[in-house]
Amino acid sequence: MATTLAKAADGMETATSAARIEHVSKSFAGPAGQQLVLDDISLDVAPGEFVTLLGASGCGKSTLLNLVAGLDRPSAGAITTDGRPALMFQEHALFPWLSAGKNIELALKLRGVPKNERRGKAEELLELVRLGGAHGKRVHELSGGMRQRVAMARALAQESRLLLMDEPFAALDAITRDVLHDELTRIWRETGLSVLFVTHNVREAVRLAQRVVLLSSRPGRIAREWTVGIPHPRRIEDTAVAELSVEITEELRGEIRRHGQH
Ligand SMILES: Nc1ncnc2c1ncn2[C@@H]1O[C@H](COP(=O)(O)OP(=O)(O)OP(=O)(O)O)[C@@H](O)[C@H]1O
Ligand SMILES: [Mg+2]
Repeated sequence: MATTLAKAADGMETATSAARIEHVSKSFAGPAGQQLVLDDISLDVAPGEFVTLLGASGCGKSTLLNLVAGLDRPSAGAITTDGRPALMFQEHALFPWLSAGKNIELALKLRGVPKNERRGKAEELLELVRLGGAHGKRVHELSGGMRQRVAMARALAQESRLLLMDEPFAALDAITRDVLHDELTRIWRETGLSVLFVTHNVREAVRLAQRVVLLSSRPGRIAREWTVGIPHPRRIEDTAVAELSVEITEELRGEIRRHGQH
């Protein structure tokens, strides 16, 4: 995958975008011929920016994220990212035969971190997601929330500048999800990572993002976007979060009505 880099005056390479999606369309072969899932999507994620992609089920959010991840190719258009992105999905996808710490060490190994440094770095990453002391724990000994923390630590182990998240907290209960929203916000602010986060939960989108991008359905197009200026720390029950969520939900409902889903 190509990397968008501009040479700065001092010779240092500075990324102009964490991700640049230019006029991207995607079709899949279906029983009734080619099905257009994404239609002419253009979106830029700035370095350090937190963007949520919001849309109804089946509108093409995961398809778009997979394209940005380089797991599939667009039918038309181009995608460039600042280095190889890290991924985090709804399913934690940890290796159950490895401990929490060893799962993270594997990611460090793949990144070329020398063996004698891996243990220490894995411990640091577990501290970062507030799971210090869990290095030796097996995956089945961890709760769902703890597993997603380990998955987050493993994604961070890749030291990518762009983190792609596909409904990573959707399977968690509301309280655990709320705690992980806080953790993700804290880590994002501490590390300066860029995040592209997919969800169909409007409140979650508003709670986390600097910018919410709404996709329409069939085909997925960018319907509208909102800049979220609500200061951090935010809470899911904040009035400002609720008010903007109501506005966005209205728009989302309109999209769903237009396309006859659900
Ligand atoms: N590999 C594929 N082959 C054929 N069709 C696909 C493929 N991947 C996705 N699709 C179709 O593309 C459309 C969008 O799917 P996608 O998984 O991107 O939606 P989504 O917005 O992530 O939905 P959800 O919120 O339910 O996760 C769906 O109609 C799906 O059936
Ligand atoms: Mg999806």
